[in-house]
Amino acid sequence: MNILDSPGKQQTQKELYEKTRTVIVKDSSAGCSQLAAEVADLIRQRQGENKNVVLGLATGSTPVPFYKELIRLHQQEGLSFKNVITFNLDEYHGLAPDHRESYNRFMREQLFDHIDIPQENINIPDGTVSLDAVYESCLDYEKRIEEAGGIDLQILGIGRTGHIGFNEPGSSRDSRTRMITLDRITRRDAAADFLGEAHVPRHAITMGVGTILGAKRLVLMAWGGNKAEIVQQAVEGKVTDRISASFLQEHDNATFLVDEAASSQLTRIHLPWLVGSVEWDRKMIKRAVTWLSHRFEKPILRLVDEDYNESGAGEILTASGRAYNVNIGVFDLVKHTITGWPGGKPGTDDTHRPERADPHPKRVLIFSPEPSDAVMSLGGTIHRLVEQGHEVKLAVQTSGSLRVPDQAAQKFAAVLQEMAQVIGDDASSAGGEYASQVLTQLEEKGLFGDDSEDVKRLKALILRGEVRDAAQVCGLESDAVIFQDLPFYENGRYRQFQMTEEDVDCTAALLEEYQPHQIYATGHLADPSALQTLCYRSIEGALERFKDESWVDDCRVWLYRGKESEMNSYEIDMAVPMSPEQLELKSEAIRKFQSISQEELDSSGRNQTTAKRYDQLGMAEYEAIESFQRRG
Ligand code: F6R
Repeated sequence: MNILDSPGKQQTQKELYEKTRTVIVKDSSAGCSQLAAEVADLIRQRQGENKNVVLGLATGSTPVPFYKELIRLHQQEGLSFKNVITFNLDEYHGLAPDHRESYNRFMREQLFDHIDIPQENINIPDGTVSLDAVYESCLDYEKRIEEAGGIDLQILGIGRTGHIGFNEPGSSRDSRTRMITLDRITRRDAAADFLGEAHVPRHAITMGVGTILGAKRLVLMAWGGNKAEIVQQAVEGKVTDRISASFLQEHDNATFLVDEAASSQLTRIHLPWLVGSVEWDRKMIKRAVTWLSHRFEKPILRLVDEDYNESGAGEILTASGRAYNVNIGVFDLVKHTITGWPGGKPGTDDTHRPERADPHPKRVLIFSPEPSDAVMSLGGTIHRLVEQGHEVKLAVQTSGSLRVPDQAAQKFAAVLQEMAQVIGDDASSAGGEYASQVLTQLEEKGLFGDDSEDVKRLKALILRGEVRDAAQVCGLESDAVIFQDLPFYENGRYRQFQMTEEDVDCTAALLEEYQPHQIYATGHLADPSALQTLCYRSIEGALERFKDESWVDDCRVWLYRGKESEMNSYEIDMAVPMSPEQLELKSEAIRKFQSISQEELDSSGRNQTTAKRYDQLGMAEYEAIESFQRRG
């Protein structure tokens, strides 16, 4: 489909709820190559007419694969950017162009340094401008856009607050380029890049909503499950300054370009029977009935025929009879997902249990992309698996060193240094020397310099200690924790990681050695550039290598969710309940991650929400529930 040529109003029944044209693609690379091909056509067409093209550009992780594709088109297919003028959406205030997190540097590294765009054609808001000159500088930016003839095509991403550019909630339809204060959620999302939320700038300069809507064409890209909710609100909700992306509904040539994960909350995907006919298999019926139950806040068994009919799900009754029968069927399906035996209950009939009874004990391999992910998402389940006699290993896929703030490393190095002085023998003086080196290197690199190998190692060691402590609270001995230190992480940085075959090799070696009966993994729905996604891909790649081996046939993969959108009730194939004591135990385990901001680690709220939802469906009332989906 030609993205650039197909603007306009919604036509099909399927897209009825969508107020901005929305194109769903399989994944970000499919979307980006489509979009890049369209941009290339536009550039070439203008070259033929001896004219310039004005592109509005975005930063962040979303457009990275798009820029890669543009670079490929330049290098391999001779696409020239000599007639391209660019305007970037935004820049952090207070960051110099060569600061490692400045958008100026980002654009040079991700695109400009690799194409033939003339330097003078590049425009990025100036983050270094003094406060009393900001107003003038913003006016000047607007003027330059106008003088260039306006923006032909504006590329956008979307923040979890619904922002486009940095137009945080409250930005008006007519706002122009200006300085704004960043929202808390936006700053938290940038915390990993800046090595802690405290270092994320508070202000930024951004094109306004009005400036953006002034472009002739807008394409907003969104990848990954953590964007699903905000995409749905922006596309299907009402136009509001609480969600600046919703203003795209008022533009007559705007497209949302989203991957499957980011489209998952759109009505046509999430509640497909509302927009057309569907095939009512068991999964779809479970989905519709749990939705009805949540919608009417009635337990499943109390839904009546009218509830089905009034909410567009009457077709189920035509196919399956009275509500009473359908209710019982779905009630049982949901009930059977609940188990206190995540590794299977030995010696029992397992026909309706999520996991088979045999073999027992099982070899269980739990993958944690960052050191804290698994404990946060399935700490209670790990504890049960260990208690129930399984051979559990926790594979920590990346060292997590990039998340450890300098202060934590400073603290450890200072203690080590002092200890060396107190003890005073040869062995400890070597340790003391190492500690002094670390302290010097930390000072020399400053807040945003790259960590030296020594510093990285110390940070990784700090987290190793914390994971071992957390795992121990969940019942795991320290030798059950494996540190994979996947190379992509050691050689990269947040939002710019690149996975290679070497990462798959590491995971394959581990799988081959351990040959698990059960795997717990996450990252299948995360943003494609997220490290969780890359870690997950290393598992998929490794499993693919062994697909003909019998142990893989005998191995079940259970998927858990990290920071992406929460699992809907209908998606859950295994629900592991937790008592208040178990939840407290998990919180204790999570608190062991002292070097990581505690705000990032709070997961009990999620587990409690899942339990409340199950309660609402008419299931037993638990304190909390950890949920899993079986990999198909
Ligand atoms: C950046 C920008 C922002 C980002 C948004 C999503 O220039 O304009 O609106 O597009 O914050 O960021 P990512 O792509 O990192 O999820």
